[in-house]
Amino acid sequence: MDKIHLKSPSNWINDPNGFIYYKGKYHLFYQHFPYAPVWGRMHWGHAVSDDLVTWEHKGIALYPTKKNDRSGCFSGSAVEHDGKMHIFYTGINYREEDPENINCALNYGFIASQMKIVSQDGYTFDNFNAKTTIIQPLRDSTSGSESDTRDPKVWRGSDAWYMIVGSTYDNNGRFLFFKSENLENWEYVNYCEKRGFGCIWECPDYFEVNGKGVVIFSPIGILNDNMTYDSAAICCFADFDEKSCKMTMSDEYSMFDYGIDMYAPQSNTDENGRRVVIAWARMPEAVGNNENKRIGMMCIPRVVDVRNNHIYFSPHPNIRKAFSKKSGKPSHKSGYMLKTAINNGESINVGGYIIRREDDIIITDRTAVFINDKNYRLIAKTPVVKEGNRLEIYVDSNLIEIYINDGEYVLSSVVYGLSDIIEGGEYEIFVTE
Ligand code: FRU
Repeated sequence: MDKIHLKSPSNWINDPNGFIYYKGKYHLFYQHFPYAPVWGRMHWGHAVSDDLVTWEHKGIALYPTKKNDRSGCFSGSAVEHDGKMHIFYTGINYREEDPENINCALNYGFIASQMKIVSQDGYTFDNFNAKTTIIQPLRDSTSGSESDTRDPKVWRGSDAWYMIVGSTYDNNGRFLFFKSENLENWEYVNYCEKRGFGCIWECPDYFEVNGKGVVIFSPIGILNDNMTYDSAAICCFADFDEKSCKMTMSDEYSMFDYGIDMYAPQSNTDENGRRVVIAWARMPEAVGNNENKRIGMMCIPRVVDVRNNHIYFSPHPNIRKAFSKKSGKPSHKSGYMLKTAINNGESINVGGYIIRREDDIIITDRTAVFINDKNYRLIAKTPVVKEGNRLEIYVDSNLIEIYINDGEYVLSSVVYGLSDIIEGGEYEIFVTE
């Protein structure tokens, strides 16, 4: 059982996949390499929850069985149709295995197909008989890449099913759009690109909130400061026309999270129709002992809202409710939540992690609580904050998430070796029951 944050049960995890409220339970799958705490031939791990707070691990759901996914089941999404769970994912077949590590490809040479598996109940996945390839590897190189076309996100439109897929063309990221009447036969309809937004677009997700279209995606190469991770999750407003599958994106984008550690967010609606998104926290080093090394975890579920032409991400109300007990000191069992306010020139030290405010910008410094590697960013900053001075800080042993003014901006950082010290300003601490 995991509480508050879903964490790797063992070895490696990355992107959230197939996030869905299905038959009264939340299901969250994730990219998983079950044999070592490193990325490798991808499987889908599976966890379920009643409330988005407590997660029960269910083992491995998807694993390679077909020629088209023999090298891995990459990211994808789930929808419910006729009572069944339909999962869409990218099947990967390496052009050539690395002879020294057959779980990786030589020179990133993938052959990518879009695949589907149908589960009758959301718990059983017949990897041998229930998989089909729905979109063959792209041969028409004018639409996208045979190698880097992946991460199908499917949604129900007004008259049909739609799929957005991340891809690349001429070293620029793009989305491809497919349409289907029955979830089986998919027709390629259109693409969308924008120069200067990185070279490969990963994990796209399109939805509407309060009548506004939003696209969240993870472009490779969007950051160019030569630090570890040149990719980041970003979001922007986008109009999508169902008839032509034409997407028009706004020129401006914002970061999904200004800590730059969160990646590959995926959303769906909760049981009350809220748009909720979960993302993967990229950890540079595994934790745990030799028998059980674990690397990778998810952020807390964030509710997406659009107000005043701005995209907000705030903690899901069930998470807020879970931190109901006021406490005199931090707890490290399922973490703690700290409420404080911060004005220009003030700072707070949370276990060695420093949060300060200067010129209405929130600046964090994790130098004292991070691995000793100069290639990682230690300082993070938000844009200018406009809506007040309130901070809601969720502290777990390896992740600190700061929600500023109820989600005006979010800044989260992966950390190691936090202490119990809290210094600076006035604050209240809350823990779970
Ligand atoms: C993003 C990503 C996806 C891909 C998966 C492979 O982190 O690269 O594009 O499907 O991870 O694990």
